[in-house]
Amino acid sequence: MRELYIGGMSGTSQDGVDVVLVEFSAAGSNIHQATTTPYTGKLGKRIKNLITQPQVTLQELGEVNVAIGKFFGQCILKLLETSDFGAHEITAIGHSGHTVYHKPEKPDAFTMQIGDSSTIAANTGITTVGNFRNMDMAFGGQGAPLAPAFHEWCFSDTKESRIVVNIGGIANISVLQPKLPLLGFDTGPGNTLLDNWTHRCTGKSFDHNGDWSKTGQINKPLLLALKKDKYFERSPPKSTGLEHFNLAWLEGELREINRTLPDEDVQATLTELTAETIAEAIVSTNGDPQRIILCGGGVLNTALVERLSELLPSIELESSAECGIGPEWVEAVMFAWLARARLKGRSGNAPTVTGARQVTPLGGVYFGAT
Ligand SMILES: Nc1ncnc2c1ncn2[C@@H]1O[C@H](COP(=O)(O)OP(=O)(O)O)[C@@H](O)[C@H]1O
Ligand SMILES: [Mg+2]
Repeated sequence: MRELYIGGMSGTSQDGVDVVLVEFSAAGSNIHQATTTPYTGKLGKRIKNLITQPQVTLQELGEVNVAIGKFFGQCILKLLETSDFGAHEITAIGHSGHTVYHKPEKPDAFTMQIGDSSTIAANTGITTVGNFRNMDMAFGGQGAPLAPAFHEWCFSDTKESRIVVNIGGIANISVLQPKLPLLGFDTGPGNTLLDNWTHRCTGKSFDHNGDWSKTGQINKPLLLALKKDKYFERSPPKSTGLEHFNLAWLEGELREINRTLPDEDVQATLTELTAETIAEAIVSTNGDPQRIILCGGGVLNTALVERLSELLPSIELESSAECGIGPEWVEAVMFAWLARARLKGRSGNAPTVTGARQVTPLGGVYFGAT
């Protein structure tokens, strides 16, 4: 029987929902169809509000939970319509939901992804697996990043040390060394500050190719102030989110240096912050990689990637496309892979990454219509 799965991903950039129809085999994964549907209109605003407002009502939380489930369902049905496959041929959907709060610090650690799996299963008729982070956290882990176990499966090599860098809203790395334990952690902000500052100052949703950042000058005092954040010096396991790295955080540091800067200088400094913190995280692992594989939408920020390659002059940087998965689809394929692992009873987490007490299958299963 063919192993066809659908993966759905809505990341911290809040740029929309990526869905992929992917086939797994002994040879790896093959994407048959993929689309991104932006959050337009009300739903995008409501998600942003849930994340940025200090208080929300339970009614709003409940309604957006179902609305995101419906939106995922629509994206998946649209994907199927344009593909050669029917819903009955798909074994399962695995989806990220959307993170509205991530607090891995103990005590009272919790992580909350919304996007109702029952709604997705009912509206597509396909068995749906969601809430992948909770079980890792229940076993004492960070619940994030989940990507390293998947990166190991698809990007590792028996001879070559590699590091995978995913530049989403938050950036994370996976250290894949032959015969050594898997490592990985969130390095800090990826695109999130770049996107939010661009939106505030220009009304655009992101800094296309990083062109705007190139018109500004890096401000050293601001860069130093931002890099003093304790998150960067903490040892792994560690993961973070928009609760920490947001515009309020940036404004606090801008007040601290007590100077008014041109908007484009702030953008140039934020781009440098993302590049330097990723490069320093890579160096801190002593992973000695021969190759760095880049994925996530940040790969398209040419200014950022150029800076990263200047900071790591002796290492070859390449896009995940060269290893068979387009950089914008890696995370969505990962959720399909996690759903497959769940249904096969295989573990999905990597305790050396998240700090969980044990390996465990991840995710809750919601059976589709029979
Ligand atoms: N051409 C581009 N130039 C600069 N940045 C881009 C470009 N295309 C995409 N991006 C960045 O990628 C982000 C989306 O990346 P994605 O991997 O989907 O992140 P997430 O997983 O957090 O949703 C956008 O918000 C934007 O910051
Ligand atoms: Mg995205």
